[in-house]
Amino acid sequence: MAQTRHAVLPEQTHDEAAREEYCGTLRKFFTETLWPGTREVYAGLERPRFEREHGRPPMNVREVKQAIEHSFYYRASNLVGRCAQELLWDTVGESIERQLPALRAKAKPRSEARGSVRINPDLAIPRYVDSVDIHVMPGNFHTERGEDDVYAGALYDRGVYHFAYGGMGPENDKLGVAMAGWLKSRFPDFQPKRILDMGCGPGFSTLPWKQAYPDAEVHGIDIGAPTIRYAHARAESLGVPVHFSQQDAVQTDFADGSFDLVTSCLLTHEMPVHLIRRMFAETYRLLGAGGMSLIDGGAPPADGPEEEFFTTWFNRNANEPFSAGLRNLDLAEAFATAGFPADAFFTSGARDAVYLKGMGGTKQAGGKSAGYVGTVKR
Ligand SMILES: C[S@@+](CC[C@H](N)C(=O)[O-])C[C@H]1O[C@@H](n2cnc3c(N)ncnc32)[C@H](O)[C@@H]1O
Repeated sequence: MAQTRHAVLPEQTHDEAAREEYCGTLRKFFTETLWPGTREVYAGLERPRFEREHGRPPMNVREVKQAIEHSFYYRASNLVGRCAQELLWDTVGESIERQLPALRAKAKPRSEARGSVRINPDLAIPRYVDSVDIHVMPGNFHTERGEDDVYAGALYDRGVYHFAYGGMGPENDKLGVAMAGWLKSRFPDFQPKRILDMGCGPGFSTLPWKQAYPDAEVHGIDIGAPTIRYAHARAESLGVPVHFSQQDAVQTDFADGSFDLVTSCLLTHEMPVHLIRRMFAETYRLLGAGGMSLIDGGAPPADGPEEEFFTTWFNRNANEPFSAGLRNLDLAEAFATAGFPADAFFTSGARDAVYLKGMGGTKQAGGKSAGYVGTVKR
């Protein structure tokens, strides 16, 4: 299965394609074979050893780590995981740098566009974005490498495809498609006319909303200008009209009550808890009466120290320092504090672990997958 071609998707030479394929295969080997093996090493060897020494099992994440961290298997698999992560961005990034001027030219907004793009050069980039290269992705989603830049968007588009070894689908949109499909089947009478996707990235989670509700006006906002420019060009090329703007999800320039549905996918696990709370308050302001908020945070709730340890490799090794905060946040309380009625809170239960099914692989890294969480404004 190849990635769907569109106007701003980077091209590969033969050698670049081979190197990218290798990165995806290494990621798959780490995710589906090496890392799940640490559970076996822990259960068979390291946990019993810890219990013999302490007369009790490990009580918290720190002690689980302490029990296993001297294991050669654990250290070696960590090393492979981290190297695969760095190698992925280096490999895809080198290919994009070679063709960046052409990509910037192709991404320039055109008069015949059906959607739109707005960039805010004065937008303050929050410290948690500016000081952490999320996923070890050089420059994160916001760094400008020149005028009209699209590097970060291109890097994420091509990088995620290989990161997930194709498991996000040819348009990297399986999470968004699944989320919109779930909402439609769970709330068939809910027909949003204006939809906002916060932290939209290159639009993988945004276009599926327009496809699910063709009559709706769909907006996507993201903190990163290069990501937003790329998202616009990608959406236009794929023929899906969406309105993109560079904005901070905690404080947007939309009027009160502008939307019927405010959604986000894989955003909140990258944010500090105090800003997630501000984002929920902003969501409350943006929704009209009867409007719905729906999020896929990308991190399941904490479920005991061992499960938390084995499902937070990224947190410790690939620059996702804030996901532990989301896992331990009481989302029902956070929505209620933002103004939503306590009895309107709902959850979907675990959703499909999407990308782990990539490239035909079925063996899972273990652990629960995240589900959807939402609420309604009355
Ligand atoms: C992991 S990506 C997810 C992208 C997309 N929603 C998806 O599912 O593929 C997280 C995105 O959130 C954006 N982001 C982080 N903090 C933000 C904020 N405060 N306001 C708007 N966007 C933000 C990042 O720039 C990044 O593009």
